[in-house]
Amino acid sequence: MSYQVLARKWRPQTFAEIVGQGAAAETLKNAITQNRIAHAYLFAGVRGVGKTTTARILAKALNCRQGPTVDPCNDCPSCREVTSGQSIDVLEIDAASNRGIDEIRELRESVRYRAARDRYKVFIIDEVHMLTTEAFNALLKTLEEPPPHVVFILATTELHKVPGTILSRCQHFNFRAISYREILERLELIAGEEKIRVGERALSAIARASEGSLRDGESLLDQAISLCGQEVKEEQVRDLLGVVPQQLLEEVADAVIARDSGRILALVDQVLTSGRNPQQLVRELMGHFRNLLMVKIAGKDSHLVAAPAEDLTRLQAAGAQLSEEDLTRFFQILVATDGELRGSAHPRLHLEIGLIRMVQAKRLAALEELLAAFSGDSLPGSPQPRTAAAPQRSDASRPPAVFQDSGPPAPTAATSLLDRIREAVSDESLRVASLLGNALDATVAGDELRVRFAAAQRGSCGMLQDREDREMIAKASDKLEGRRLRVSLLVEEQQAPLEDAPPPEPPPPEETPPAAEAPRPPEVGSERRESKRILEDKRVQSFLEVFPVQGKPEVQRLK
Ligand SMILES: Nc1ncnc2c1ncn2[C@@H]1O[C@H](COP(=O)(O)OP(=O)(O)OP(=O)(O)O)[C@@H](O)[C@H]1O
Ligand SMILES: [Mg+2]
Ligand SMILES: [Zn+2]
Repeated sequence: MSYQVLARKWRPQTFAEIVGQGAAAETLKNAITQNRIAHAYLFAGVRGVGKTTTARILAKALNCRQGPTVDPCNDCPSCREVTSGQSIDVLEIDAASNRGIDEIRELRESVRYRAARDRYKVFIIDEVHMLTTEAFNALLKTLEEPPPHVVFILATTELHKVPGTILSRCQHFNFRAISYREILERLELIAGEEKIRVGERALSAIARASEGSLRDGESLLDQAISLCGQEVKEEQVRDLLGVVPQQLLEEVADAVIARDSGRILALVDQVLTSGRNPQQLVRELMGHFRNLLMVKIAGKDSHLVAAPAEDLTRLQAAGAQLSEEDLTRFFQILVATDGELRGSAHPRLHLEIGLIRMVQAKRLAALEELLAAFSGDSLPGSPQPRTAAAPQRSDASRPPAVFQDSGPPAPTAATSLLDRIREAVSDESLRVASLLGNALDATVAGDELRVRFAAAQRGSCGMLQDREDREMIAKASDKLEGRRLRVSLLVEEQQAPLEDAPPPEPPPPEETPPAAEAPRPPEVGSERRESKRILEDKRVQSFLEVFPVQGKPEVQRLK
C-alpha cells in the first residue's frame, strides 16, 4: 500500500475520535438521534482542528446504510465512499478555487436532483469565505429553502468574512484551537501505534509548535519521522523546528535573575552562532517569561502552561525568585525589543540591548524595594528620621536618572517640590524630568523658582537652559503653586555644604529644614564603630549589592 501521511491516516472516522470539539460533536449527535437535522451548518475555526473531518463524519452518519446513526458503520459502500472522498452524494467543494457565480449556479442546479443512492445529498463547501459577493447572493436562496433531502455544511477559517445573511441561515459551530495537552496526547497515541520511539520532550516541542492545529502537529511528526526514522531525537526535532532549547531559555532567565550581563551576551552569541535568529529568541523568551508568570500565578498544575511536567517544577522554582512585577516588566521589554527587531538593520544589537535592559530592570526593582524599605525609616545611626533623605544629596549615591522609568512616586506631603516638578513635567518630557533628577533641590523665593545643581551636574543644568525646557518647568510651577514663577537654574560653584546656601524666602513647607541641628561630629573611635554598624546594616549591604563600589566601601558624614 502506498504511503499515507499521518494526518490522513489518522483522520477520525467517528464522533468519539474527534479530539477537543466536545460541544460540537455532542450537539450534532443529539440532532441525529432526535431527528432534527438542520439544512445548513457552518463550522468555523482555525486550520486543522477538525472541521472537514466532522463534516465527513456527519455526512456518513446521515447516509450510512444503518443510519441515520451517531455511529456510522464505516463499512457500507456509502461510508466507504465518503472516507475515500468518492461519494456521488457527498460533494466537497473548495470555495477557494470555485469562487464564482457560475460554480454556484451549477451547484444550485445539482441541488434540485435527489440523491443518487443515499438518503441525503450533502454539500461540504470548504473555505466558504472565499466566495465572491455574487456567488454568496446566488447561494442565499438555496440556503434559505433547500429541498428536504439536502444538507449544506459550510466551513471557514475566517468567520468574519462570511456575510451576516449567510450566517443567519446556518446553524453555527465554533471549532476551538486544540490545547497543547490534547495535541500532545494525540501525538503520543499516534507515535505509539506507529511504533515510533519519541521522548516527551521532542513531542512536547512539536505540540507547542503546532499552535493549536492538530493537523500541523501530525505533519510535523511526519517530518520528524522522515528525518530521524523510527527513533525521533529531541535534538533533531529542535533543529527541524528551529526552536531554541528549553535549557538555553532557562539559562537566559537565570542570568537575568543573577543580573549577569556577561553571561547573557555569551548566551546570545551561542544562540546566534547555532543559526537561530534574534527575533526567534525574543519570541521564545516571551513564551518562557509568560510561562514563568503563569506558573507563578496559577501554579504548576495549571493547564495554562505548555511544558512537560519536569520543566514545570523548574519553572516554578525560577518564578519564585521573581515578582509578578519583574515578570511583567520583562515581558514588556521583550515586546518592545520584538518590535524594534522588525526590519532592524542591527538585529543582534537590539537583542543584546533588550536583554541588558532586563538586567537593569531587575536592578531597578531591587533599588525600588530598598527605597521602600528606607522610606519612613531612619538610616542606621541617624539621629532623626528625615536625614534618611540625606544620601540623595550626595552625587555618589544619587540614583541614576533612569530611575524615572519606574514611575514617579505618588505625591505625598513628604514629596519634595523638586520631585513634584519632575513628576509634573514627566508627562511632557521624560528627558527634562530625568535631567531635573540630577538637581539638588528646588525652592521658591518670591516669584522665583530656583533649581540648584551641584557643580558636578553643571552639564545637566546646561542642558536645561533651553527656552522650551524652562517654559515647561515654569508651567509645572504654575500647576503646583497656582502662580507662574520665573525659573532660575543655578550651579553651586564649590561643593558648598547645603546649609550655607541662602535661606529660601519664604521657606517652602515641603523642604527638609536645613540640617542645622545635625549632630556634632562624634569622637574618632565612635565614628569607626558607627561606620562599621552602617556597613553591616542589611539594607546598606543590599544597596552595595545593587550598586557595587570599587574597593572597600566607606561611610562619609554629610555636612
Ligand atoms: N479535532 C481533531 N481530532 C482528531 N484529529 C484531528 C482533529 N482536527 C484535526 N485533526 C487531524 O488533522 C487532519 C485535518 O483535519 P481537518 O481536515 O478536519 O481540519 P480542518 O479544520 O478542516 O482544517 P482546514 O481549515 O485547514 O481545512 C485530520 O485528518 C486529522 O488527522
Ligand atoms: Mg478543512
Ligand atoms: Zn455505513
